[in-house]
Formats: sequence, C-alpha cells, structure tokens
Amino acid sequence: MDAVEDIKSRLDIADAIQEYLPLKPAGTGSFKGLCPFHQEKSPSFFANRPRQSWHCFGCNEGGDVISFVMRMEGMDFREALEFLAQKTGVTLPSYNPEQQTLKRRLIELNDLAARWFQATLRNDPRAEVARKYLMSRGVDDLTADLWRLGFAPDSWDELTNALKSNGATDDELVQAGLAAKSDRGSGVYDRFRGRVMFPIADLHGRIVGFTGRILADVKEAKYVNTPETHVYKKSAVLYGLDKAKGEIKKQGMAVIVEGNMDALSSHQFGVTNVVASSGTALTEDQLLLLRRYTDKLAIAFDGDKAGDAATLRGLDLARNLDFNLRVISIPPESGKDPDDVVRKDVSIWTKIIAEARPIVDWLYARAFAANDVTRPEGKKEIARALLTEFRRINDPVERDAWITKLGNDLEVSTDALRDVMHRSSIDTSRRSGHSSPRTQPQPSDERDFQKEKTRFEHLEDRLEAILYVKPQLKSCAEEIFGRHTFKTEQSPEKLDLLAVIADREFEDQSDKTLERELRETAAEILRLKRAEEGLLIEREMREAERQKDDAKIAALIQRLRDL
Ligand code: UTP
Ligand code: MN
Repeated sequence: MDAVEDIKSRLDIADAIQEYLPLKPAGTGSFKGLCPFHQEKSPSFFANRPRQSWHCFGCNEGGDVISFVMRMEGMDFREALEFLAQKTGVTLPSYNPEQQTLKRRLIELNDLAARWFQATLRNDPRAEVARKYLMSRGVDDLTADLWRLGFAPDSWDELTNALKSNGATDDELVQAGLAAKSDRGSGVYDRFRGRVMFPIADLHGRIVGFTGRILADVKEAKYVNTPETHVYKKSAVLYGLDKAKGEIKKQGMAVIVEGNMDALSSHQFGVTNVVASSGTALTEDQLLLLRRYTDKLAIAFDGDKAGDAATLRGLDLARNLDFNLRVISIPPESGKDPDDVVRKDVSIWTKIIAEARPIVDWLYARAFAANDVTRPEGKKEIARALLTEFRRINDPVERDAWITKLGNDLEVSTDALRDVMHRSSIDTSRRSGHSSPRTQPQPSDERDFQKEKTRFEHLEDRLEAILYVKPQLKSCAEEIFGRHTFKTEQSPEKLDLLAVIADREFEDQSDKTLERELRETAAEILRLKRAEEGLLIEREMREAERQKDDAKIAALIQRLRDL
C-alpha cells in the first residue's frame, strides 16, 4: 500500500469533512451540508461513506478526502498529503528539498523573518524605542510573544543579509515580499524598515506576511504590508483568525474589527472571538473562511468607513451568504475604536458587543441620516433603499412591523410602501422565471439564465440517476420526451455522480415511487425548458418591439402560445 492509500484508509470522509462544516445524515452512508465552495442556502454538498467521496451538486465538484482538503485549505496535492499524513501519523517517504513547492519555501522564509524580527525586538538596543512604544500602548510581553510581534530596524539590508546567510536567494526574498528589487543595479533591499512588525498568519498559524507599523507620527505611510504573493492574498486573510477560530466556534459568533491593534488588544483582555479585517471591506474569501466556524457576525467599523460603498458591498456579500449580521457601534464617549475601549475597560467592550444591533436597524438609521426625510424625493430614496432590505426578512410579522414603522416615519401610507415592494418583487421574479423573494435585489438576466441552466442540468442528472437505478423506466421517459434520446454510455465520472444521487435518493424506493419521481422530474424539466424558451422569446420580443417588426412580433406571440 502506498502512502496515499495508507492515509486514505485511516481517514473517514464524513469525519474529515465535519471538521470543517456540519453535516447531516442523508440516507445510507450519505451526509449532506452547505457547500463550503460556493454560496448556497440549501444543502447540495454530499459526502458518501461507502465510496469515501464527496460531491457538490451546486458547483458540480467532487473527489476524495485529499481533493477536499486541497480545496478547503488552499493547498497543493503535496501539502494536503503532508497535512493529512501528520494527522493520521503516516510517515511520507522523504523527498528532495529541491522539490519543495514555492509556497512552502515562502512560508518558511516568512517564519524565519518573523523569528528575526522577534529577536531584534527583544535584544537589539535599537529596538528600545519599539519596546517603549508597545509598552505605551499597553501590549504585555505575553501578548507580544503570542502574536510574535517584532521590530524591523531602520536598515536597508539587515534582514536580507540575515536570510541570505541562511540560504535564501534574492529572488526568493522578493517572492516572499520581504525584500524589493532596487531600481538601479541588480540587488534587493529590505521592504520593512524602522517598524513594529505584526506577522500575519493563515488559519493554521503559518506566517504568510506582515504588517509593519511606523513608530512615530511621521509623513510616511502608517502601515506597510506584504504585497500579494503566492502565499499572501490580502483579501483572503483575517488577522487573528488562527487564534480566534476555536472561540468563534464555541461562542457561535465572530466579532470583526478593523485594526490589527483592535484585535490584539481584545485578545489580550480575554475577548478572543475577534478578528481584524485589516482595514478593508469584507470579501467573499474572508466570509467563506468565517463560515467554517459560525454564521453569526458582529461587525465594528470605524465611523468614517461606515458609509463606504465598499463596506456596504461587504455587508451585502455577507447577507447573500446568509450570515446573521449585527453592527457594533461604539458610543464616542466609550472610545474611538475597540482598542481604545478595551484599554479603558474591557467590560464596556463586552457590553458593546452584546448590544450590537441587527443590520436592518443600522441600515434604517443610515437611510434616514443620508436623505432629507422632509422632501418627497428623500422619502422615495429612503423607501427604495429600505424596502429592498425588508424583502429579505423572512418572518411576515417582522417584515410588516418594519413597513408600518417606515410608513409612520415617512408619513406615507403603508399601501404605497407595499405597492413599491410588491412591484420590485414582481420584477425580480419575472426575470428569474420563478418567484424567489430572497434573491439579490437586481440580478441580471444573464445570471438568472445561468442559474436556470444549472438547475436544468441537475434535473437531468436526477432523471438519469432514476434510470440508473431502474433502466426499465427508459420507455416511460421516452414516452414523455418523445424523441429525446438517452445516452447509454456514460463517462466514469458521470456514472460515479449518478451513483451518488441514486444512492442518496433512490435506493430502496419502490418501483411505484421511482416512476412517480421520474414523472415529476420530467414534468419539471419540461416546465423549465418552456420557461427558458419563454425567456428567449421575451428577449427577442423586446428587440422586435424596438425595431417595430410587426411580422416578427406576431410570429413570436404564436411561439409563446405554442409553448
Ligand atoms: P487604522 O488606521 O484604524 O489602524 O487602520 P489601527 O489598527 O487602529 O492602528 P493604530 O491604533 O493607529 O496603531 C486599520 C487597519 O487598516 C490597515 C491596518 O491593518 C490597520 O490595522 N491599514 C491602515 C493599512 O493596511 N495601511 C494603512 O496605511 C492604514
Ligand atoms: Mn487604533
């Protein structure tokens, strides 16, 4: 047995996956859950024990435990193998260091750099100013060690030289983001100079980059960051997540702050479910990371960022991923940012977190602050902004209560508000071909069309899976679809997929149930085909109307009738 087989034999796919996301039993040896690789609201991700495989019917991806870990952890094959080898206690045959992947090398160099910065902070006389600075900001030694804080002396080549004497090349240092190529000549120079260094870790605590803070209030940039590298993507990192993830899972909630110091202080004072977005709006990659641990987020943004389009986009993304979102607002008298609050009194910070308001409350206040409620135009803008939000609320009573409140505050009738809300919801459902009030506010034709297409493919797979379990039903299908031909030869991947569906849904079903399933699936396929055709005709119709082509319009109307 080779090492790969050995590792796989010691792992169970369902258990391995459950370390990342909750799964529920779904029939013999099958488990389902929300796919971690794409946005979805109902589970189409399946793990199958007998086959030790996984498959997502939404993104149509699948494989074994190794490919799962590769995707989940962003690792290449070798990295995933080593990761799992360590877990299972399998010893991998050693291999030539020259073959080490670039990523591993970059992480190694970042780690060496972190150690060097740490040692400099502790021992170098020039670091006195940095030690004083950290002390003045109340960072204790334990925290400094835990977060591996360091100091980059004000020098152009000390780190570079130290790492080169450890075997690093110029090219590697540049690729790690630790050094930059000098404009003239061929050498490289240290990127971080005269700064307190905050190493940035990935989920597993491996250092992938740095943020360096200037010590004094000078004209230079306050922070210098590692540029994008093969191991550091700013948009896919959350500062402190490696330390916060356990507590986030335990509490079922993550607190997101902006500054690295905010996260660090909060941890130092015992509030440890906190991560920092490092001053950027939330990205989908960050949200998908968080969703491994919780679906509840409380966000504290600095006052000046709260109105940013980017901030709102981040919030929107989070809601599309079905996060339960709250907004933490810091009363000016409590401090200017979380770091400030925590240092004064950590119990105030805890209280402020507990009092975070649901996102709708916050958006409500924001809409009123941004528009002139005394003018009709202002009322219209407020109503538009908020009704889109209200439509996302599932509970009818809650939704109604908001509409009533809005009517009162705007001094307009709730009938008018309902009218606006209803009209915009018809628009969306017409476009998507089926009514779904929880889709994004303004989905494009194209995107919905795509969605229908994949849904269509799912149904086809389902149909074929039924025929896979019971080939005798082929004649029944042919009767429904007329000349529709059914493939008799399928690729091995496709067969595997059909087997998964079959075993999840159709195994052990009676012949009668199977036939009913077949007829229902077929009817849905035909309905979708008609809807898709209708959508195409509708588009052509719009074009024909624009060109005033009466003959074409008549023909299209006939086609619509024939559907
Ligand atoms: P802040 O300016 O709020 O910094 O930026 P801070 O963390 O509160 O720092 P202190 O309290 O002044 O020491 C928030 C975050 O935005 C990123 C950093 O990650 C910072 O922690 N940032 C900010 C940058 O990357 N570059 C900048 O120039 C400024
Ligand atoms: Mn701050």
